[in-house]
Amino acid sequence: MAARRLFVTTALPYANGSFHIGHFMEYIQADIWVRFQRMQGHEVHFVCADDAHGAPIMLKAQAEGLTPEALVARIAAERPRYLQGFHISFDHWHSTHSPENTELSQSIYRALKAAGLIDTRTIEQFYDPVKGMFLPDRYIKGGCPKCGAADQYGDACEVCGAVYSPTDLTDPRSTLSGATPVLRSSEHFFFRLSDPRCVDFLREWSLGGRLQSEVANKAREWLEGDQGLGDWDISRDEPYFGIPIPDAPGKYFYVWLDAPIGYLASLKHHFDTGGAARQTAQRFEEFIADPGVEQFHFIGKDIIYFHTLFWPAMLRFSGRKVPDNIFVHGFITVSGDKMSKSRGTGISPLRYLDIGMNPEWLRYYIAAKLNSHVEDLDFNPDDFVARVNADLVGKYVNIASRASNFLTRLFEGQLADVAQHPAWTALDVGAASADIAQCYEGRDFGRALRIAMEFADRVNQTFDTAKPWDLAKDPARREELQAICSVCLAGFHALTVWLKPVLPALALKAEAFLQTGPLGWADCLRLPRQVSRYEHLMTRVDPKLLDSLFEPPAGSAPAPDAAVPAAKAVAKAAGAVKAANPKAADHKAGDAAASAPATISIDDFARLDLRIALIVNAETVAGSEKLLRLTLDCGEETPRTVFSGIRSAYSPEQLIGRHTVMIANLAPRKMKFGLSEGMVLAAGWDDPARGTGIFLLDPDQGAQPGMKVR
Ligand code: 2FM
Ligand code: ZN
Repeated sequence: MAARRLFVTTALPYANGSFHIGHFMEYIQADIWVRFQRMQGHEVHFVCADDAHGAPIMLKAQAEGLTPEALVARIAAERPRYLQGFHISFDHWHSTHSPENTELSQSIYRALKAAGLIDTRTIEQFYDPVKGMFLPDRYIKGGCPKCGAADQYGDACEVCGAVYSPTDLTDPRSTLSGATPVLRSSEHFFFRLSDPRCVDFLREWSLGGRLQSEVANKAREWLEGDQGLGDWDISRDEPYFGIPIPDAPGKYFYVWLDAPIGYLASLKHHFDTGGAARQTAQRFEEFIADPGVEQFHFIGKDIIYFHTLFWPAMLRFSGRKVPDNIFVHGFITVSGDKMSKSRGTGISPLRYLDIGMNPEWLRYYIAAKLNSHVEDLDFNPDDFVARVNADLVGKYVNIASRASNFLTRLFEGQLADVAQHPAWTALDVGAASADIAQCYEGRDFGRALRIAMEFADRVNQTFDTAKPWDLAKDPARREELQAICSVCLAGFHALTVWLKPVLPALALKAEAFLQTGPLGWADCLRLPRQVSRYEHLMTRVDPKLLDSLFEPPAGSAPAPDAAVPAAKAVAKAAGAVKAANPKAADHKAGDAAASAPATISIDDFARLDLRIALIVNAETVAGSEKLLRLTLDCGEETPRTVFSGIRSAYSPEQLIGRHTVMIANLAPRKMKFGLSEGMVLAAGWDDPARGTGIFLLDPDQGAQPGMKVR
C-alpha cells in the first residue's frame, strides 16, 4: 500500500487556563491514532496550538494586570511539561496569535467576501457602560425570565434549564463591573451560511456518509431543522483580543473564526520552520492543497457545530480543500458523574504526574475505554486499578519476566528459531495483527486492546501448559524449554508492537530488552533472537495512589454565610475527609473541628484544593446583611461565584482586584441568593471576647490565580 499523507490535529485549547484531564483524553486518543499511522510507515503531520484570542482571555489578562500576550505566553510556557509527561507526540505547537494565523484568517475572509458570502447588519447588544465594552452572554447575570431564579447567566438558567437571550433577564447586570448594561447597536459582519451554495455543500459534506452516525444526525438536525441554517456573526467590536478585520477599523474576527484557521497556521509554521522537511519536499501551500493529503481533526462533542458547519464551509468557499473527517469523542466522567473539581471528582493531569502515577497507566486505561462512537468515557478508580494491574501488568508485562528468566539463566539469552513451532503457528500472529490494525484505524482502541489481551492470555496458557519449571529440571528437555520460552517471548514481542501506539515509553524499554531497533507494525511477525536480563518494565498501581489523585468527595458544605477563619477551615475540611469515609466517621456531625484529630497526615492536607483567587468583582447582596457576592478567578475558564460573610469587615471596593486564598473543592452550595462555588479564607478568633475582626488572607506579591497553596 502506498504511504498515506496525513494532516492531523486536536482541538486548540484556550490559552487562559491550564490543561485539564479532558484535554488529555483527546490528546491521548489522537496520539495513539497518529503513532499507529506512523508505525504503518505513513507520513503524518500532527499539530496543535494555543487558542489565544477572545474576550475571556482579554479580561483575565486585564484582571491580572497583564497584556493578553503575556498571559498567553505564561500559559504556553507550562504546556510542554504536561505534553511530554503524557508522551503526546505533536510535531508542532503554535498559537492563533501569530502572523501566520493573521495572514491566513484575513485571506480566507477576503475570499469569502469576494464570493459574496459576507454581509453586514446592525444589531443591538448589551453594553457595559463602566467597562466600555459589549458584553458576551456569559458576563451578564440576572433573574431567569422563566422561573425567576436569581443570579443566572445571560444565555441559560442553571435552575430550570431555560435558554434565552440576555435581554430577557430581569434586573440584568454586568458581572465585570456590576453595572446595569444598556442596549447599544453596532454593525456586525456575518458569514452567510444560509446561502443555498453553503447549504447544498454542507448537506453533501456532512450527510454523505463520512461522519460518525451520531455526528451526522446532529448535522442533519441543524441543516434540516425548521429554522434552517442561520448566518454566523463573525465580528466583535473593540476592545477585543483578536485579529483585525481588513478594512473595518475597530472590528475583530470572533475567536471562533480564527481558531480553526489556527490548525493551518500551526501547520504552516511547522513547514516554514523546516519541521516537515524530513517527510516532504512540498511547501505548505502545495501540501495543504494536495488532493492526496488527508486532513482529520479530533474534537469533543461540544464543538461539533463549529467543525461540521462553519469550518468546512469556510474552507470550501475560500477555495481551499475541506477536511476529510472530524473524529468526535465524548466527555470524561468520573464514576458516572460529570467531572467537577468542586464535587471532588476532578482529576488534574498535573496532580496525576506529581504524585508519581505512571502516564502510561492512564494512556492504557483511556485506550481500553475508547471506541469510535461519541460516548462519554467513565474513569472508575477500581476499574483503573483492575485493568492496569490485571491486564497490562498481569497479562502482558508478566510474559516478559516469566519467559526471559529461563532464557537468560540457561541459554545466555539466546532464543530458538520457532518459526515452524506448532505453539507459535497456533498463536496466529498474522490474524491478530490484521484485526488489531483494523481496530486502531477505526479508533476502536478498546477492541484493539481486548484482542491483544486475549492473545496475551493464549501466550500465558502456552507457557503454563508447557510447565517450563518442570522442563528445566530435566537436562534432556532443554531444547523444548528453550523453544517454548522463545515462543512466549516472540508473543511478547508481537504484543509490544501492538501496544506501542498506546505505550510508547514501555515499548522503548521492551525494544532494548528484546534487542531490536524501533519496532514498526510489520515487525510483529518477526522473531526476536536475543533477550537481555529482565528489568522491571512497569510496576502495578498502588490503589492508595488513587486516593490522593482525587480531591475528597464533598462531605460538608461551606458555612452558609461566613468566611471560615483559615485554621478552622483546614480543620473542618480535614473533618470532611474523615466523614466521607463511613468507617472513620467517629465524630458527631456538626462538631468536626472539635473532634478532628490533633494532627492530620500530609495526604489529608493534599485533599484540600487551596488556590490563589483573584477577586474580579465584589458586590453586596440584596437581602443579606452579612454577605458579599464575590466573583473569583481561580485559574479556570469561567470565574466562580462565592458568597462570603465578610461584609462587616470589607466593602466591595476594598476587595476588587485583590488576591486571596480559596478552597476550590468544597461542594457547591445552593443558597437563597444563588450557588456558592467555594470559600475564601480569612483569619479570626473563635472566641468573640478576643475580637470579632475578620482578616482575609492575602498572598505575597507575584502569586497568580489558580496557583496551588501547599
Ligand atoms: O472549545 C475550545 O476549547 C476551543 N478552544 C477549541 C478550538 S478548536 C479549533 F477550532 F481551534
Ligand atoms: Zn430558570
